[in-house]
Amino acid sequence: MRIFSRILGTGSYLPEKRLTNADLAAELAQQGVETSDDWIVERTGIRARHFAADAQGSSDLATEAARQALGAAGISADDLDLIIVATSTPDMVFPSVATMVQHKLGAAGCPAFDVQAVCSGFIYALTIADSMIQSGSAKCALVIGSEVFSRILDFQDRTTCVLFGDGAGAVILEASDQPGILATDLHADGKYKDILCVPGHVNRGGILGDPVLKMDGQAVFKLAVGVLEDTARASLAKANLTDADIDWLIPHQANIRIMQSTAKKLKVSVDKVVVTVDQHGNTSAASIPLALDTAVRDGRIQRGQTLMLEGVGGGFTWGSVLLRY
Ligand code: UT7
Repeated sequence: MRIFSRILGTGSYLPEKRLTNADLAAELAQQGVETSDDWIVERTGIRARHFAADAQGSSDLATEAARQALGAAGISADDLDLIIVATSTPDMVFPSVATMVQHKLGAAGCPAFDVQAVCSGFIYALTIADSMIQSGSAKCALVIGSEVFSRILDFQDRTTCVLFGDGAGAVILEASDQPGILATDLHADGKYKDILCVPGHVNRGGILGDPVLKMDGQAVFKLAVGVLEDTARASLAKANLTDADIDWLIPHQANIRIMQSTAKKLKVSVDKVVVTVDQHGNTSAASIPLALDTAVRDGRIQRGQTLMLEGVGGGFTWGSVLLRY
């Protein structure tokens, strides 16, 4: 009998500090950087974002989201036999955020590791967990996307610093004889490294290169719309489904215009798209599980519905997970 992986519970966490566009614009104005609520809303759909406190790292946000997901699933950390965290903003160079989360949850022993695929990270992590469950090497996985992008923003660069926020989202994935994840599709193309990157790195006790986010927004925009359509279609084809079967589209939350274009290409009506970018900004690997948990908790997403999760980000990386909730 085929083993599937199924979402048992979801959780999320947003740091306390919330900045509206007006709050952020006022802070930036003090540093001589000009922006406005009108520009940000019109070009991106973002109205607010959360920033972590100085003492909070990705592992703290991830642990809070994990506790919620464990609670929703009705299991304890001891039941986990796999922990994967998708992040590009880890607490340290090493060890991984996943091992820190494991310890903070009071668990030990099961494999724990991070996946680095930037804004596609959660899709990559979910695909790996699904493969490990299907192969029988795991039965109950905690999969998290957690980011503190506020730490890698250049607040002198208005073209990027207004776009991102901090947060974490988590799912518990368990082995089941019922689907579950129906199809997955992952891709990468390293030639696009320079259009979205943080070029700085630790070198002999210092930082070499600029350790802040650089992005060619328009190049990213054009690529994103194309690959999000392609990967969604690839997952649908693998599962022998069509775009008409999608109950909820949960794309990476980077820009409302990218999400609307993707929905249009997939012939999914905009009221079937889960949108949190307005309240969270772009939280990179955390954006998809945060959106998923939001729509599960407010009752939009119901058991038995078909969800299309899809991400795109630095690398370039992109991919999708089609699942029955
Ligand atoms: O998760 C990673 C994936 N990332 C993305 O998906 C981002 C994709 N790209 C985008 O979302 C959009 O390209 C942006 C939101 C980043 C930019 O929107 P745009 O419509 O492509 O604007 P633009 O870069 O063409 O800039 C238009 C104008 C420029 O002024 P001029 O040259 O026309 O006078 C910018 O200097 O807007 C100006 N501008 C701003 N004005 C006020 C850029 N940033 C700001 C700002 N506030 N924050």
